[in-house]
Amino acid sequence: MALRALLCCLGALWLGRPGLALPPGPAPAAGQFWHVTDLHLDPTYHITDDHTKVCASSKGTNASNPGPFGDVMCDSPYYLILSAFDFIKNSGQKASFMIWTGDSPPHVPVYELSTDTVITVIANMTTTVQSLFPNLQVFPALGNHDYWPQDQLPVFTSKVYNAVANLWKPWLDEEAIQTLKKGGFYSQKVSSNPNLRIISLNTNLYYGPNIVTLNRSDPANQFEWLENTLNISQQNNEKVYIIAHIPVGYLPFSMGTTAMREFYNEKLISIFRKYSSVIAGQFYGHTHKDSIMVLSDEKGSPVNSAFVAPAVTPVKGALQKQTNNPGVRLFQYDPHDYKLLDMLQFYLNLTDANLKGESNWQLEYTLTQTYDIEDLQPKSLYGLAKEFAALDSKKFMKYYNYYFVSYDSNVVCSDLCKAFQICAIMNLDRNSYVDCLKRYYIKHNL
Ligand SMILES: *[C@@H]1O[C@H](CO)[C@@H](O)[C@H](O)[C@H]1NC(C)=O
Ligand SMILES: *[C@@H]1O[C@H](CO)[C@@H](O)[C@H](O)[C@H]1NC(C)=O
Ligand SMILES: *[C@@H]1O[C@H](CO)[C@@H](O)[C@H](O)[C@H]1NC(C)=O
Ligand SMILES: *[C@@H]1O[C@H](CO)[C@@H](O)[C@H](O)[C@H]1NC(C)=O
Ligand SMILES: *[C@@H]1O[C@H](CO)[C@@H](O)[C@H](O)[C@H]1NC(C)=O
Ligand SMILES: [Zn+2]
Ligand SMILES: [Zn+2]
Repeated sequence: MALRALLCCLGALWLGRPGLALPPGPAPAAGQFWHVTDLHLDPTYHITDDHTKVCASSKGTNASNPGPFGDVMCDSPYYLILSAFDFIKNSGQKASFMIWTGDSPPHVPVYELSTDTVITVIANMTTTVQSLFPNLQVFPALGNHDYWPQDQLPVFTSKVYNAVANLWKPWLDEEAIQTLKKGGFYSQKVSSNPNLRIISLNTNLYYGPNIVTLNRSDPANQFEWLENTLNISQQNNEKVYIIAHIPVGYLPFSMGTTAMREFYNEKLISIFRKYSSVIAGQFYGHTHKDSIMVLSDEKGSPVNSAFVAPAVTPVKGALQKQTNNPGVRLFQYDPHDYKLLDMLQFYLNLTDANLKGESNWQLEYTLTQTYDIEDLQPKSLYGLAKEFAALDSKKFMKYYNYYFVSYDSNVVCSDLCKAFQICAIMNLDRNSYVDCLKRYYIKHNL
């Protein structure tokens, strides 16, 4: 033991001695960060013979094949969420921070929750993350379920905004805490990356079902604040990652439906275009599916890359055929200019995990490798989207399988389904989206 300790220290001494001709090391490592979203904890989840009683989130329908890691008719058991964070912790990947884009409470009828239960669930998830990752800076964004009644996030301070401001204090500066308390949004420098700023938007203010913000042109003055914040970042030569729950752009599974109200979508797009040179990436949740978007400027040149991460919860509605396997993802970036280089999507095969009684979180795909592209820059993603659009594109078939996090490898996207997907990837504003659908309809005679 003593000898081993001595050898180890001698080794360290030798390696650390300056002036020694060491072999050239690998290229400077890329920076990395994790993205988790839509945890949707269902504290009622438990295995029982009566499958209508497994979880409140199945809303009286039978769970389909409940196991320790959950069921597709249910939101996440705590055990599933723990397995995701344990995987991240033990993955051996070095990350300098984590982004967490909201939706912690379960999908249950409004009267089954309350402001206090919603806060309790968010507190539970926050404490879980803080105890597993005491030294990791985490950047949360609020989701439409992180409020009671759901979707009704207010434009003034509230009990929930105050509660999360307290819970998330260890990760944020005083200024961020203040705007979080007032409007549910903030901007915060990344401690380990001097010129990188996270802007966490409360896009729930723009969500269709939010009646509190009806007819308001700038709820909580977030647009004004966003423009100011981006302007100052530009002057200070910072780069910004935008994080939020409800994504910009069009939903990839339906025709002409923006995720937020169209007026707000147009406004946000115009701000993102104006400051596209400052924004090095955009990261969202909410759809529970894995998708990409490329923002183009008015002339049609790609200027920003956006990524919607799949959920940890596998839940689906009774009438839905497809859902997603639980997923978490790791981004790689250039630590000098914060350009996005790659993304590794990890997932849990829920069926398999339940069958074996153990969680086998694994790599689903690496974005550049699986699609043979150089990096995650807007130009690269734009080129990829054009390849997707080709008839019978094998790459698009892959994309559509990953869209559901490999839940069903036999899933097929019809011509119409594909038109919606492609147009949503490449067009985030109304004019270009409508144009895209028209062109697609004519070309494919739909
Ligand atoms: C749940 O499954 C049981 C047993 O198969 C069946 O009797 C019952 O009708 C089902 N309930 C619902 C709500 O589908
Ligand atoms: C979170 O909730 C789960 C399930 O209800 C419970 O087992 C766990 O102890 C809670 N953890 C914390 C930190 O509150
Ligand atoms: C919003 O504006 C419309 C049209 O001006 C009006 O009919 C509606 O009552 C307004 N709603 C609210 C909540 O103010
Ligand atoms: C940023 O703010 C400054 C000072 O208010 C202003 O002069 C400048 O035009 C703004 N930049 C942009 C891109 O709007
Ligand atoms: C998931 O696991 C099930 C059961 O082991 C297996 O049949 C299925 O092929 C797996 N899916 C994937 C994408 O590997
Ligand atoms: Zn969600
Ligand atoms: Zn949501």
